[in-house]
Amino acid sequence: MKTVLIIGIGAGDPEQLTVQAINALSRVDVFFLLEKGPAKQALVAFRKAVCERYVSDRAYRVVEAESPARERRPADYGACVAALNRDKQAVFERLIAGEMADGETGCILAWGDPSLYDSSIRNIEAVAARQPGIAFEVVPGISSVQALAAKHRIPLNAVGGAVEITTGRRLRARFPDADSVVVMLDSAEDEAFNAYVDQDLEIYWGAYLGTPDEMLIAGPLKQVAAEISRAKREARARHGWIFDIYLLRRRPAKG
Ligand SMILES: C[S@@+](CC[C@H](N)C(=O)[O-])C[C@H]1O[C@@H](n2cnc3c(N)ncnc32)[C@H](O)[C@@H]1O
Repeated sequence: MKTVLIIGIGAGDPEQLTVQAINALSRVDVFFLLEKGPAKQALVAFRKAVCERYVSDRAYRVVEAESPARERRPADYGACVAALNRDKQAVFERLIAGEMADGETGCILAWGDPSLYDSSIRNIEAVAARQPGIAFEVVPGISSVQALAAKHRIPLNAVGGAVEITTGRRLRARFPDADSVVVMLDSAEDEAFNAYVDQDLEIYWGAYLGTPDEMLIAGPLKQVAAEISRAKREARARHGWIFDIYLLRRRPAKG
């Protein structure tokens, strides 16, 4: 049997790994580091630093592989993601077959929490379903959603209200029914929040949360949208990439 651990490592702060995650790291024989795109260097460096910091009593191997990339603006988003996941599964199949001996434990270090906008669980589940002798376990992590709420010192939901977690692409198409909406994966070029600047919304925005480059802006959307756009543009020019997330909340009606 080969075992693959999918461990959530938090969204950029090495002190936000759980005790369970730290203990799980010490079971690992081989870490698989797959990344792509402009953030690749920073995200791989963070994962290596996590291993060096928390695994001291065991020799381990690190295998880096190129993660397949997807088209930025595909005509058919669903088909494009399905094709990308097939390519990723082929990479994992090759790595598990070629880089792990029977009885060994491999590991994918998932950014934030593996349950949220991360394909690792789906892909490893698909590989394990096709190939006998592969087990997998999931260890949760602190997601960028929790990091955002903590940094702004806010609860996610209004009292008794619903929270929807969505993407910039979906927000552009339609504003959800929930009182509180968390938006991830909003591309720097589009900034979906700009479609709603005429509405009575509060925004809590954060970029590079948990890292030394962290940025936070909050206030009525009408008043701070331009400041956020400017901050995003400048940060992206400086770093070459940006990870940002925000909560939009309807402001209570006056009267
Ligand atoms: C592919 S998703 C992965 C989410 C991750 N699984 C999680 O639990 O946070 C990447 C998106 O997460 C958000 N994100 C991740 N880390 C972040 C951070 N440190 N600061 C701000 N946003 C972050 C951004 O919206 C980014 O586009």
